[in-house]
Amino acid sequence: MTTIDREKLKKLQEREAKRFVAEHPRSAELYKRAQQSLLGGVPMNWMKKWAGEFPVFVTKAKGAHFICADGKDYVDLCLGDTGAMTGHSPEVVAEAVAKRVKEGITLMLPTEDGIFVGEDLKKRFGLPYWQFTLTATDANRFSIRIAREITQRAKILVFHYCYHGTVDETFATVENGVVRPRRGNIGPPVDLAETTRVVEFNDLNGLEDALKHNDVACILAEPAMTNVGIILPDQEYWKQAQQLVKRYGSLFIADETHTICAGPGGCTAEWKLEPDMLVIGKAIGSGIPGATYGCSEEVAQRISARMHLEDCDVGGIGGTLAGNALSLTAMRATLENILTAKNFEKMMPLAVRFNDGVAAEIKRHGLPWNVQRLGARAEYTFCQRAPRNGGESAASSDFEMERFLHLYALNRGVLLTPFHNMALMCPDTTPADIDQHTSLFAEAAAELV
Ligand SMILES: Cc1ncc(COP(=O)(O)O)c(C=O)c1O
Repeated sequence: MTTIDREKLKKLQEREAKRFVAEHPRSAELYKRAQQSLLGGVPMNWMKKWAGEFPVFVTKAKGAHFICADGKDYVDLCLGDTGAMTGHSPEVVAEAVAKRVKEGITLMLPTEDGIFVGEDLKKRFGLPYWQFTLTATDANRFSIRIAREITQRAKILVFHYCYHGTVDETFATVENGVVRPRRGNIGPPVDLAETTRVVEFNDLNGLEDALKHNDVACILAEPAMTNVGIILPDQEYWKQAQQLVKRYGSLFIADETHTICAGPGGCTAEWKLEPDMLVIGKAIGSGIPGATYGCSEEVAQRISARMHLEDCDVGGIGGTLAGNALSLTAMRATLENILTAKNFEKMMPLAVRFNDGVAAEIKRHGLPWNVQRLGARAEYTFCQRAPRNGGESAASSDFEMERFLHLYALNRGVLLTPFHNMALMCPDTTPADIDQHTSLFAEAAAELV
């Protein structure tokens, strides 16, 4: 296997960093101006994490491409970290949303679009009842509240190195059996060990040991992990894990916010899972803020028995803009026209093309890396074998290498997700877009070895 000379990597990184600055004078100017009014010079702190010295400012995005303030065109394989998995501003959604904007955006009253969306989600995921929020984070938080309320148990269970949005209880990792706040956790409100049990993915014994305490309200999980590389479940994992969850009186909340990339019904439909609750956000409204959580008949009955009309506005579940008319119109148009089986059929082979192209270059250059795919999403990690759990995947992370490869791609017109090496397909992505990435990846690999 090839070992990479870190000095060489450093020099290459410096060369790419200079090129980036030289080619983006307008973004540099805007970033400088932004320092005067935006904390850290960006509207949201994650936007600082791009590989260049400053983020590229965007003027326009359509389909699988966007244009930056310096007039450069990019292939977008990040797609707003799934928020734009539909492609940027699909025409049919843009039209429906524009009409709705002129006819009332938010009322705290229902519109018929909500019923359409509920009926569609019921068919996709098999759960009968749905509620809406503005973000997947909120949908996860409310699902957890419901699970705690109806089971009268205090703890939740998550996988080591999971990510489910900015949900306090989920920022926990486990080291030698001890639950700790995840590195970088800003101001955790309580000791994470009080709220959370953490186990490794694909470890049924560990899961059973954690559930045996009979204090776990719910397991909140992505059916395949997507936020620390792509980690696929072992063949029988979910069948047995779901049985354990039932046996110990806990609930299974499937977070399909990213794993919707597996197909129109996410992993739940693809793998015939039977979650008690299900969460999805981001792409569901083509990027117009909106998310949803669904529940089984049994959960619905249990929560109805404990919720009282008089207190429902102050019970900790809801939000003034949640379920607003605009979100629901965007979701309806997206589900009806974009996140369709036909479009998934277009996206899947492109992810295979990405996967195969990258795998071939890894092999050609003898790099100790691998690439995994889940439906329309693919990602390479810096370990030789596909990781089986969050611990393994996190141990292989290589921040310097990641930044170099991302900047290399950016300088050659391709945007990858800043937090890991993820590439996502949308219905507008083309084989030429993928080949552009494969050829620059090959070039970078050749330079590195
Ligand atoms: C699996 C998963 N769930 C939930 C979320 C939270 O989404 P949002 O930031 O839109 O609330 C994310 C965000 O990356 C996610 O990856």
